Amino acid sequence: MTARKSEFSEDFRDQLDLLMRLRRDVRRFRDTPVDEAVLTRCLDAIRLAPSVGLSEPWRILRIDSETARAAALKNFETANAEALAGYSGENAKIYSQLKLTGMQDAPVQLAVYCDDSTTKGRGLGAGTMPEMRRYSVVTAITLFWLALRAEGLGLGWVSILDPEQLNRDLNVPDDWQLIGYFCLGHPEETSETPELEQKGWETRQDRLKIETR
Ligand SMILES: Cc1cc2nc3c(=O)[nH]c(=O)nc-3n(C[C@H](O)[C@H](O)[C@H](O)COP(=O)(O)O)c2cc1C
Repeated sequence: MTARKSEFSEDFRDQLDLLMRLRRDVRRFRDTPVDEAVLTRCLDAIRLAPSVGLSEPWRILRIDSETARAAALKNFETANAEALAGYSGENAKIYSQLKLTGMQDAPVQLAVYCDDSTTKGRGLGAGTMPEMRRYSVVTAITLFWLALRAEGLGLGWVSILDPEQLNRDLNVPDDWQLIGYFCLGHPEETSETPELEQKGWETRQDRLKIETR
């Protein structure tokens, strides 16, 4: 078979670039429900992700019950208050004004885990660096994030949490490591600029620095 230049058109590449530019961490959601068929399609993107040794170590919990959601939100509020207490001056002022979760109103919420004890993949590639399993889950989240964005949906990653408390509240196996708590829904707005940049917390680098050895 002769090698083709690319299976994808220039138009497609432009669209892909736009998709990546418009992927945002979303913390503000409309109350429009998420279509289940669309959600399933986006979740299927996770199955396409690379994983060390083909271990597919992702484990996904859908957080639907009032009790589980309330426990997760309380967990965030406690961790966020502790985080705020660690800042002072201008940092504390800006931090206190940031909205760092959409857990209050996101129609779909997921807790995503890495199963550190999986035997799938027979340990290939994870011998010297077992953390590669967790990185595999992160790559899967990235595909999921883009798939959602392509459907007009947004995702917000919440990491300001006490993972041990959350694991107890959600009754997860000991070998599962929390990768993140994710809020999904229809975003209130679209922007090419990260919200943390808009709010004056941090800026995105304008060029990629590459060192050579
Ligand atoms: C591993 C990870 C954890 C994150 N945790 C949080 C979080 O707890 N709360 C939050 O508001 N944003 C969180 N974010 C989102 C980042 O703040 C966001 O990606 C960054 O500001 C750039 O914005 P953008 O995603 O819209 O480009 C997290 C992102 C990643 C990748």
